[in-house]
Amino acid sequence: MSPSPSTGVELHSIAFTLNGDRRTLNIPPWVTLLDLLRDELDLTGTKKGCDHGQCGACTVLRDGKRINACLTLAVMCDGAELTTVEGLATGDELHPMQRAFIKHDAFQCGYCTPGQICSAVGLAREGRANNRDDIKELMSGNLCRCGAYTNIIAAVEEALPHSGGELGQGGAQS
Ligand code: FES
Ligand code: FES
Repeated sequence: MSPSPSTGVELHSIAFTLNGDRRTLNIPPWVTLLDLLRDELDLTGTKKGCDHGQCGACTVLRDGKRINACLTLAVMCDGAELTTVEGLATGDELHPMQRAFIKHDAFQCGYCTPGQICSAVGLAREGRANNRDDIKELMSGNLCRCGAYTNIIAAVEEALPHSGGELGQGGAQS
């Protein structure tokens, strides 16, 4: 820790990998990962909805697991590997989950979409989704105020086997 010359606040030095790039930062201990991403690192794909862990708009991946960035202090990510929606594509090639959301028109306003996609990629890695009902249940932390759920579920169901994870026994079935 070292105090900021301008404010006297004790800053914490942290380092993590963000979308494949190594980042080292000095930050106050109370800054959330969500605010760090949006306000300091200009990664505004991750959205702030409720800021209370209830909507999932802020979902990102930490070490491959989905987390709510609004409930995560940035200092808790020291040494982590972070992926936001901006880091899912490979060059010009969209992630299979992104392609499925486009194919199934799985959005209206799009505000919840980055969180939905990151959450679905995390779900694929968990290997717990055996059927459409599992997807609904395990994606229930990601709210869509436009009510695009039918198309979101269809997109997730299609992309789950292609999203770098494991399906539960039997794979996703409708
Ligand atoms: Fe994080 Fe709503 S903004 S859960
Ligand atoms: Fe508008 Fe989900 S598409 S909130």
